[in-house]
Amino acid sequence: TSRAFSTTMLREKDVKNVTVFGGGLMGSGIAQVLAHKGGYNVTLTDVTDKALTGGKTIMSKSLTRIAKKQLADKPAEEQEAYVKKIVDSVRTTTDAAEAVKDTDLVIEAIIENVGIKQQLFEFLDSKAPKDAIFASNTSSLSITDVAKTTSRKDRFGGFHAFNPVPQMKLIEVVKTSETSQDTFDSLIEVAKKMGKVPVACVDSPGFIVNRLLVPYMLEAIRLVERGDASVQDVDTAMKLGAGYPMGPFELSDLVGLDTLSHIAKGWRESRVSTGEISEEIVKESKLLEDLVKQGKLGKKSGGGFYPA
Ligand code: 3HC
Repeated sequence: TSRAFSTTMLREKDVKNVTVFGGGLMGSGIAQVLAHKGGYNVTLTDVTDKALTGGKTIMSKSLTRIAKKQLADKPAEEQEAYVKKIVDSVRTTTDAAEAVKDTDLVIEAIIENVGIKQQLFEFLDSKAPKDAIFASNTSSLSITDVAKTTSRKDRFGGFHAFNPVPQMKLIEVVKTSETSQDTFDSLIEVAKKMGKVPVACVDSPGFIVNRLLVPYMLEAIRLVERGDASVQDVDTAMKLGAGYPMGPFELSDLVGLDTLSHIAKGWRESRVSTGEISEEIVKESKLLEDLVKQGKLGKKSGGGFYPA
């Protein structure tokens, strides 16, 4: 009935102001798409001004690419103005309390460390409006764990975007056993307004994409470690034989070898004993660890399996 309809409409949170924590690749990508495609009032927050400037640079570069295509027949000044308008519309601040004062939704994309995320959310829980929704962009931690320090577990979910955020169409929306249906629906709605396609996930290691991609990348590294094939041949094989846009080594360089190593380690330490992940899948790889030790972290560091 129309009554039931309006009840749903009233209960579902009307998200207008979104605060993104983390000026790195993921956070600034999410902030960019929220502002550009979603039309939200976006605040980007990080601990230093340098990180925020870095976030704005990432947005400018990406939007310049988009403007060059979308406004191909327009003069350069017009393209630049278009980019500047969107970048300038994203408010930046290092004051976390102030950033969430009037927020409807917080999306966290800071370092993948459960303790640090819990600390941030505990603080924000006391500063943000009581009805604001909290979401984490974690790719491999448990959303239930991250939400533990807050008093709003029903208004807490996962909102996982993919790299490069402006280009990849997917958002994994994660529902824990405590996430309310209204919260879940609101997150789905935000993903759609961003022009993305949401999928529903339960709070399991790696959700859908990383549950499949991480073991795949680690197995590719083991394959090369065994001397069965070269890095280049594995990538060529998966691109031409399976139609993947990137081979597993190109993808590892994009994701970051430190990130990949960190996910594997985290799962070894906390998801094997629970039976969620089998030990074989996340076994430590010498090749991966050596590259990380040498600072060869992938695209972001000037090279990984491939030179930058
Ligand atoms: N901003 C805006 N647009 C971008 C962009 C960015 N940062 N990066 C790429 N694009 C656009 C390009 O402009 C181009 O657009 P067009 O098709 O309209 O011209 C399009 O993307 C394709 O880019 P390129 O032509 O430069 O290069 P490719 O065709 O090789 O595509 C790619 C690059 C989109 C990265 C593609 O190789 C790809 O899809 N790779 C797989 C990426 C992937 O699997 N990501 C998920 C990683 S896992 C993850 O993120 C989870 C994390 O939690 C670990």
